[in-house]
Order: sequence, then C-alpha cells, then structure tokens
Amino acid sequence: MIFAAKVSEVPNFGKKAVTLEGREILLVNIKGEIFACENECPHQGSPLNAGIVKDGHLSCPRHGYRFDLKSGHCKDNGEFTLKIFPVKLLGEEIMVDLGQDNNS
Ligand code: FES
Repeated sequence: MIFAAKVSEVPNFGKKAVTLEGREILLVNIKGEIFACENECPHQGSPLNAGIVKDGHLSCPRHGYRFDLKSGHCKDNGEFTLKIFPVKLLGEEIMVDLGQDNNS
C-alpha cells in the first residue's frame, strides 16, 4: 500500500485527485470513509474530479453515469465498471493499494 494523502486534505463529501505511481487516482470522503478510484470515467474517459458525490455514488460530469464507490458498479449502464482500489487508514494517512482492485 502506498501513501496517497492525509485525511484532512479530503473534505467531507469532497474529493482530491492525486498521482500515484503515474496513475491519476481520485480520493473521495463520505463521512470519514475514504474511497479511492481511477480518475477516469470508464465510459468515455472524462476526469471524475468534477463529479458529484451522492448516496455512496460518484457521478460522471460528462453524461451523468453513477458509479458505486464500493464496487465500481455503474447504476446507469452495467457495461461499465469504475476501478476501485482498497484503502486503509493509518491514523491520518490514507494508504491505497494499486496492486489490486475491489471489482474482481
Ligand atoms: S464519459 Fe463518463 S458517463 Fe460518459
């Protein structure tokens, strides 16, 4: 697992984009629970950092597809799955595992 950011850098119901090992990763905070996903929509590649977080989902700013932040499942089109990475909190530090994703 690698260090991504401090919890205090990701506002509640907010996001922070980071580059980890050359990959654009988006961190999302939902009431203190942190999620990490690829910052690229699996539909047509839009960056997701301008997306809206609601009801445990992140919606893409381009066509509005909603992705479950736990499973990556797309509520609006089952053909697409967002890559979600395991997250662990070490005190204030957000650690992300890029070696596997939660989708499989
Ligand atoms: S590019 Fe994200 S829904 Fe189309």
